[in-house]
Amino acid sequence: MTASYGTRTTPPRCHKNLFHSCRFVGIFLVTLVILLPTSSDACDDPPRYESMMLKNVSKDLYHPGDQIEFKCRLGFKPITPLLPTTAICQANNTWTPLQEACTRKSCPQLADPSNGQVNGTFLFGSEVHFVCNEG
Ligand SMILES: *[C@@H]1O[C@H](CO)[C@@H](O)[C@H](O)[C@H]1NC(C)=O
Ligand SMILES: *[C@@H]1O[C@H](CO)[C@@H](O)[C@H](O)[C@H]1NC(C)=O
Ligand SMILES: *[C@@H]1O[C@H](CO)[C@@H](O)[C@H](O)[C@H]1NC(C)=O
Repeated sequence: MTASYGTRTTPPRCHKNLFHSCRFVGIFLVTLVILLPTSSDACDDPPRYESMMLKNVSKDLYHPGDQIEFKCRLGFKPITPLLPTTAICQANNTWTPLQEACTRKSCPQLADPSNGQVNGTFLFGSEVHFVCNEG
């Protein structure tokens, strides 16, 4: 990665009176080369889940040993028995995998109307339809 960066960069032409700015560019490039390998010592962004969201606001960078905690999204409740909701940034820069630990809440069951029926599920986010009986 650092090598390809070097080949793409055309070296700035140095005139005597521009020596200082050229040296500045040199220092900048050396700093970049030093920083690039260390910036890969971090986990990717926290994984996303349908039923869970981060408890705390996401950080820009996570290092091995950092922990993140998830909570149920709006409309979801914890599955029982409880499943783990904490992931750890591991030494190889991957997050410990988690299962979806929450499930959709359900609205109270609706009774069938006289001469008809309710069609659909009562889970968060779903619709039901009232259907008239034939005739
Ligand atoms: C979440 O934030 C609180 C307060 O800022 C902090 O004490 C706690 O350690 C954080 N928890 C995680 C899992 O990052
Ligand atoms: C990272 O390390 C963990 C724990 O040692 C292991 O289970 C996982 O398979 C590793 N992942 C990769 C992509 O190497
Ligand atoms: C209830 O909904 C299902 C799926 O949308 C549909 O196939 C079925 O025909 C519906 N039943 C009635 C009685 O409308």
